[in-house]
Amino acid sequence: MLVTNRDLLLAAKREAYAVGAFNIQNLESLLAVVEAAVEEKSPVIVAVTPSAIKYAGLNYLAKLVRSAAESSLVPMALHLDHGEDLETVSKCLDAGFTSVMIDGSHLKFEDNVAITKRAVDLAHPKGVSVEGELGRLAGVEEKTVEEREALLTDPQDAEKFVRLTGVDALAVSIGTSHGAYKFKGEPQLDFERLSLIREKVDVPLVLHGASGVPQWIVEKAAKYGAQLAGAKGIPEEHIKKAISLGITKINIDTDLRLAFTATVREVLATNPKEFDPRKILGPAKEAMKEVVKAKMRLFGSSGKA
Ligand code: G3H
Ligand code: 13P
Ligand code: ZN
Repeated sequence: MLVTNRDLLLAAKREAYAVGAFNIQNLESLLAVVEAAVEEKSPVIVAVTPSAIKYAGLNYLAKLVRSAAESSLVPMALHLDHGEDLETVSKCLDAGFTSVMIDGSHLKFEDNVAITKRAVDLAHPKGVSVEGELGRLAGVEEKTVEEREALLTDPQDAEKFVRLTGVDALAVSIGTSHGAYKFKGEPQLDFERLSLIREKVDVPLVLHGASGVPQWIVEKAAKYGAQLAGAKGIPEEHIKKAISLGITKINIDTDLRLAFTATVREVLATNPKEFDPRKILGPAKEAMKEVVKAKMRLFGSSGKA
């Protein structure tokens, strides 16, 4: 059934687990996420970015997800991830999304507040929940203290941002970044900052850039020719700690991409006579599904549907 992020996240916040938001861009990635949720009996957020919309088409994606939600018993939200403007937000609302993110994190504080408030004004009358973002998701290693402060979420500003915008969830920057190369040295997140934000902000908190970049998947991809030297993600212990400190939505894209790529490479390399797309994409879907299931167990959302 289709629900809002707000419904999913308030339940998660009450019980101190996190709901995974998994990025999809085609049928295989959607099947992987939905089948995993059903098998794990887990609530789930299906996330779609503007570039996924550009790739597959808004109506195709929205209808695929909505029909998956209608035919499965687990609660599922259809979420716009990193919405970049109000026009995209409006189109997603019209297409039946139940949650939207407006990402004004690159803007000045006042401008971020203004665009986020406008997204809230568009979405809330339709019963759709809104995620805003404060702080920039960029690598913070090798930065000066001043540079780090400028990128990471300021707890006082977070309180003000939530109060002025009325967002239902807040994405914070505590040292994660998107993609497969998150750290050169030891993975480090600013947990003290997260605790301070949690003290000031009552809405559910969101962790973007949370992929673990499992080394066994990187090694499998590399075995079949991928060039991924230096890929490194967030350790599972850090994820558990972030959840214990109040993170209730966790975004995962990179780990699904890696699982897909490693498996397609393996199938093509080990079955050179194969040319049926279903025999190539089927195993890739299964690999993504295993990743999603493992995340649901790690986040504590398994069995919560
Ligand atoms: O933040 C989300 C993604 O990992 C970036 O996705 O390539 O679909 O924009 P995208
Ligand atoms: P990863 O690149 O770590 O998977 O992060 C995905 C994300 O934040 C999507 O919004
Ligand atoms: Zn993100």
